[in-house]
Amino acid sequence: MLVPGGPALIEGPVELVSEDGTVVRSDRFQVAMCRCKRSKTFPLCDTSHRKKARRD
Ligand code: FES
Repeated sequence: MLVPGGPALIEGPVELVSEDGTVVRSDRFQVAMCRCKRSKTFPLCDTSHRKKARRD
C-alpha cells in the first residue's frame, strides 16, 4: 500500500540488503519503506516526509 506523499507499507518482518551490502532488518508486522529519500533511517521511513519545506 502506498501512503500519498509518504511511505510504502509492506508486510513484515523484512530483511533489506542494499547495493553496498548493508542489511536492514525489521521485525514489525508492517514496515514503512521511505519513498521521499529524506529519512535519516533510509530505507525505512522516519516520518521526515511530514515536514514541510520552509517558505523563506
Ligand atoms: S517516506 Fe517517510 S521519511 Fe520518506
